[in-house]
Amino acid sequence: MEEETNLTSKFITAITVILCVALLLFLIRKIIQGPFYKKANRIDGKVVIITGCNTGIGKQTALELAKRGGKIYMACRDPIKCEDARLEIIEKTKNENIFNRTLDLNSLKSVRTFANNFLNEESKLDILINNAGVMATPKTLTKDGFELQFGVNHLGHFLLTNLLLDTLKKSAPSRIVIVSSAIYLFGSINKADLNSEKNYSKVGAYAQSKLANLLFTKELAKRLEGTNITVNCCHPGIVRTELGRHIVAGNFKKYVTDPLSSYFFKTAEAGAQPSIKLALDEDLKQSGGYYFDQFRMPVLSKAKDMEMAKWLWERSEELVGLKSKSVKESVTAMDVSDVDGMTVVELEVTKEEMLPKIVEKIEDVEKSSDMEKKDEEKK
Ligand SMILES: NC(=O)c1ccc[n+]([C@@H]2O[C@H](COP(=O)([O-])OP(=O)(O)OC[C@H]3O[C@@H](n4cnc5c(N)ncnc54)[C@H](OP(=O)(O)O)[C@@H]3O)[C@@H](O)[C@H]2O)c1
Repeated sequence: MEEETNLTSKFITAITVILCVALLLFLIRKIIQGPFYKKANRIDGKVVIITGCNTGIGKQTALELAKRGGKIYMACRDPIKCEDARLEIIEKTKNENIFNRTLDLNSLKSVRTFANNFLNEESKLDILINNAGVMATPKTLTKDGFELQFGVNHLGHFLLTNLLLDTLKKSAPSRIVIVSSAIYLFGSINKADLNSEKNYSKVGAYAQSKLANLLFTKELAKRLEGTNITVNCCHPGIVRTELGRHIVAGNFKKYVTDPLSSYFFKTAEAGAQPSIKLALDEDLKQSGGYYFDQFRMPVLSKAKDMEMAKWLWERSEELVGLKSKSVKESVTAMDVSDVDGMTVVELEVTKEEMLPKIVEKIEDVEKSSDMEKKDEEKK
């Protein structure tokens, strides 16, 4: 009888311990996921662009905004992956206003083409979410010769945002959301070697690009004062996505990091919550903030250094070709080539400079063909 009582009490103790551990693990997991955006506001008919949203945080952001009635332009580099994600979002939300558009932030030409096509299709833009990103890549250059992480995470988005600014202004009140990262804490803007030509560190270049996201947010917010465009950035948390593809792979990923991250990291849905809040929360009126888990967070002084923010803005304008150049510089930037006997002229100039330059170039071409004719006649 006594033995039976002992067994029962051991059994009850074991069950209690198991339940307590399970409850504790559940609570820790809940804390890791962070708070979710709870307001039920809809955005029916509002036009949204989300970059890099075929997977990860961007896809979950697109899904949530689609559920709430947004007209979503999915700006992705791979049209096939984008189409799969688009069809999944349509199936889950029954919102047919989801579009697959190609944007490769690795190429300024692709950014310009995307922006032009979008502006031909739509006369308004309510929400722009600069989400796409690459992390810790091997040293690689973009199509325009920029270090990949700086080029994609900062410069591509810098150009895209600037090309869409007039439309965002016309559509105000509108929003810009920039997905940065807490890794900025370890970053610095290397004025002397922005492109990491002298020295490349995978993580250092990522941290620099994410600090650039913060400084861009600050400077943009300042320049947009009084326009009724709200611009903020966020850190999504440590999220289980494909972002670490250049860091871990193979069996180590399969047997070590995947099982650990499935418990210790946020889900992509949880990681999307800061972007969703910044895009949707109508009570959010302030600009220039850095958010984590639904809260505005303080930042280190390097992320609010307005002198550096201005310098980075101006340098970025030069690098992406937005800053007016002198005629001489522009002519140097022209690429003239000969294809099947036809002269092809590629111009890397701003819109205002375009016309006089085309005229100038045509005159040059005419002059040289006149000279060639005269030479031939002499012969
Ligand atoms: N995951 C985290 O723990 C974490 C933490 C802090 C910040 N973040 C930031 O959150 C954002 C989203 O990352 P994620 O975690 O969701 O990563 P992800 O799953 O790797 O998604 C990144 C997205 O960006 C796209 N992309 C990459 N290069 C591009 C290019 N050249 N042009 C256009 N799109 C491009 C990817 O397209 P493909 O599928 O075609 O490659 C993908 O859709 C990034 O800005 C990242 O820095 C993430």
